[in-house]
Amino acid sequence: MFITLEGGEGAGKSTQARRLAAHLAQRGAVLLTREPGGAPGAEATRGLLLSRAWDPRAEMLLHFAARREHVARSIRPALAAGAAVVCDRFADSTYAYQVGGQGGDAALWRMLVDGTLEGVWPARTFLLDMPVEAGLARAAARGETNRYEALDIGFHQRVREAFHMQAAREPARWRVIDAAQPLDAVTAAMLAAL
Ligand code: TYD
Repeated sequence: MFITLEGGEGAGKSTQARRLAAHLAQRGAVLLTREPGGAPGAEATRGLLLSRAWDPRAEMLLHFAARREHVARSIRPALAAGAAVVCDRFADSTYAYQVGGQGGDAALWRMLVDGTLEGVWPARTFLLDMPVEAGLARAAARGETNRYEALDIGFHQRVREAFHMQAAREPARWRVIDAAQPLDAVTAAMLAAL
């Protein structure tokens, strides 16, 4: 079972991914992982992506280069061994941030999904959704700010809309969870939807 968590800044994805993985670990092997990253080359690419600005197409290619490494070296082998995989962000983040937020090419995104992931695709995706202002405030309170968090509020609103568009397009895969609820309620909502 391949499960992904998606959402904007400050939605609590990492915390909820940890909780979900801990719950699933009671029943069997679980790989808890994240993007950009999750494999040595992909972690190196994460450093490149977060440390400087890129030409938009180059940026989309870098996200998929990291993702390809992640799928080939971590996700696919874990799934093949019968483990559950819980991943903090996946290809939908590239759609939301690079296509929705940055106005990138949706056809290129589709081509990269089809051409690099070899059919590895989440069975269940949680959109941890909350108002953009509240999420950014949470992220700011956390201290460290990455390059994307620092972009203007219009960018983050487009990201949120793009996530909702993805969820509406593939309703069987997505579950939208109100991430403004207390942590325990968010976890309970995810477990109920599994
Ligand atoms: P991260 O520290 O994981 O942020 P968060 O905790 O908010 O998830 O940094 C990842 C950043 O990279 C985040 O701001 C979203 C962005 N991102 C993209 O723009 N495209 C992508 O495909 C992915 C996976 C992440």
